[in-house]
Amino acid sequence: MKAVILVGGKATRLLPLTSKLPKALVPVLNTPFLEYVICHLRRHRITEIILALGNLAEPIESYFGDGSRFGVKLSYTVEKTPYGTAGGIKNAEKFLDESFIVLNGDVFTDLDITAMMTFHYRKKALVTIALTCVDDPTSYGVITTDVEGRVSLFREKPRSGEVTSNVINAGTYILEPSVLAQISPGTEVSIEREVFPSLLAQGAPIYAYTSSAYWLDIGTHGKYLQLHRDLLNGKCHQHVLDLRHDVLIGAESNLHPSAQIMGPVVIGASCFIGREVKLIGPSVIGAGGNIMENSVVDGSIIWPNTWIGPGVNVKNSILANRCFLHANSVVEESVLGDNVIVCDSCRLKSGSRIFPGTIVGAET
Ligand code: GDD
Ligand code: MG
Repeated sequence: MKAVILVGGKATRLLPLTSKLPKALVPVLNTPFLEYVICHLRRHRITEIILALGNLAEPIESYFGDGSRFGVKLSYTVEKTPYGTAGGIKNAEKFLDESFIVLNGDVFTDLDITAMMTFHYRKKALVTIALTCVDDPTSYGVITTDVEGRVSLFREKPRSGEVTSNVINAGTYILEPSVLAQISPGTEVSIEREVFPSLLAQGAPIYAYTSSAYWLDIGTHGKYLQLHRDLLNGKCHQHVLDLRHDVLIGAESNLHPSAQIMGPVVIGASCFIGREVKLIGPSVIGAGGNIMENSVVDGSIIWPNTWIGPGVNVKNSILANRCFLHANSVVEESVLGDNVIVCDSCRLKSGSRIFPGTIVGAET
């Protein structure tokens, strides 16, 4: 079976992290997110994968190349203007001649794809949609099924008054190629708002595959932090890192003997962790990070090459590449884009979102 991964979205909810970096390349435990999705497919013997790209396609193509580094064969389609979730699949039609799987490229899951394929064939379904449960379904596609597991209703992003259940579309589908005939070429079409409701109205056999697999869409800062917490606390069964040890330290990193590390903490390669520094998990320090004496990093994700001066406090925050935090500054519950500079003793307002290249002065 071939796979199409949809990675053409704009990722606006992850700004300022995604102003220059596509969501697919956002690092999770120091590895680009999409690499986990590709490796999960490979574990289920799906090795022919089409990446349906749009926005910021070039860095994705140059990182993944032909896929051989990851044990798969990758092809690419690139949309000049967004074709939407169904239009993106239609654009890959020339690669698709038998049952295929589609994945939203921003979902981290342990889903048993092999079992889902067996289910799809057994049911002789035209479409099988994986389901999951969430507390608040209003940001997702809500699905209602009958007792046989056949989908009877698909409602994308219902308002809170319209919510009928907390069972949602998990963003993994198996489709028969005949579905492609229902999607107009060269135009924006949504699979959730147009194709699924229209197929249901025609009485097409759309089945739901239920599982209790780990599932998370990394679409927001909160969910991105949540994914790290879950992975570092062993809630997900996918083998992502050797997390038997509470603290992982990359090659050529240098820790002062007085530094206190309370795991789970992952430290990338070539980092320097200074005297009396406290790293409190779950936290990740990207490669080339420098954390100077008496600083505290607590529950935060720090991307590569960041410099954290002495006496700095970083809590429940995300810092993108090459940020520079001067002495005694405080960053809490905030998200900093690339190359942000925070001046001496500056205390950022909790909940700040700072765009790349900003110099944050002491009065902020
Ligand atoms: N190629 C391409 N073209 N990909 C796109 C486009 C497009 O125009 N628009 C979105 N995508 C990709 C995104 O990059 C993402 O990987 C995936 O399609 C889903 O888009 P999101 O923007 O993340 O959608 P969502 O999270 O609000 O909702 C979707 O996912 C939920 C599960 O996470 C829907 O499918 C919901 O029904 C579902 O519950
Ligand atoms: Mg999403």
